[in-house]
Amino acid sequence: MKRISRPIKFWTFTALGGASLIVYLFATAPEALGAGGSERHTLSTEEALTMLALENDLTRTLFTKEIVGKGKAQGLKFDEAWADEDVIAGPLPALFLRGVAIEISMGDVPLQLFLGSDFPIESSNAFDEFQAQEFKAMRTDLKPRHFIDPTTGEHVSMFPDFASAPACVSCHNEHPKTTKSDWVLGDLMGATTWSYPEDSVTTDEFIAMISEYRKGVETVWSQYLEELDALEDGQRPEVGQKWPSHGLYIPAHEALRDSIDRMANAPLFMGLMEKATL
Ligand code: HEC
Repeated sequence: MKRISRPIKFWTFTALGGASLIVYLFATAPEALGAGGSERHTLSTEEALTMLALENDLTRTLFTKEIVGKGKAQGLKFDEAWADEDVIAGPLPALFLRGVAIEISMGDVPLQLFLGSDFPIESSNAFDEFQAQEFKAMRTDLKPRHFIDPTTGEHVSMFPDFASAPACVSCHNEHPKTTKSDWVLGDLMGATTWSYPEDSVTTDEFIAMISEYRKGVETVWSQYLEELDALEDGQRPEVGQKWPSHGLYIPAHEALRDSIDRMANAPLFMGLMEKATL
């Protein structure tokens, strides 16, 4: 495979600025390149879903550590019943992801996302028969799985979900509905599972996938900010540029987006360029 050399990667980003390139690519490039350029199947579905998984991982880790972790220290609450009318709280990380998955399922892109496990708290998070078989194999080598589900014909990619923080273990072990109470730190707890009907995607389709995911995050974020609106004065965090690590603050969607962009856009762009210039 032809790879872009490190010095070129460095200079591309230093000289032109990663951000403006990304804006160019995501906002204008496909149209500017014309139909011929954008109809090429740039990525296999496996590659596209691997890049989406990176975006999802960065988003979820940021949410778990900087919002839930630091937010709790500021007195903010996160609850599995966060969507109930009488509960004023933010979503748990798994429910944040579920919210995004629901939004994606309602959009035009035929993409599906699901966080499953072989020992789920919530029974609807159990894998189906074929996914369960693949997950069993994942337990032996802890590597992602890419396959076609024979029952649906969908291209499926499963990525390991590890108990990366003590809170994952304690909450799952102690949960009244748990189906396993001896999780330990570092365990494979489940898998983020994506599916898509085609075997490859054009640049436009890939950008549509990423945009759909990002729109989902934006919608769940606005639902979370609405919850915070219902808090009383003194308990309500200021929504703006600052984060809970600085006090009683919650980033507005633009600030959240900026942080994720800073981590995700460069590797996504490089990944796409490596394939698009082959
Ligand atoms: C405060 C409690 C809590 C914490 C912390 C927590 N979870 Fe969960 N998790 C839940 C609940 C509750 C569900 C079920 C949510 C649902 O779908 O209704 C869940 C769902 C899941 C699922 C889907 C399968 C299932 O059990 O239903 C996985 C996988 C998972 N969590 C992994 C993790 C990982 C990894 C971490 C740490 C990074 C983590 N969780 C942190 C409470 C928690």
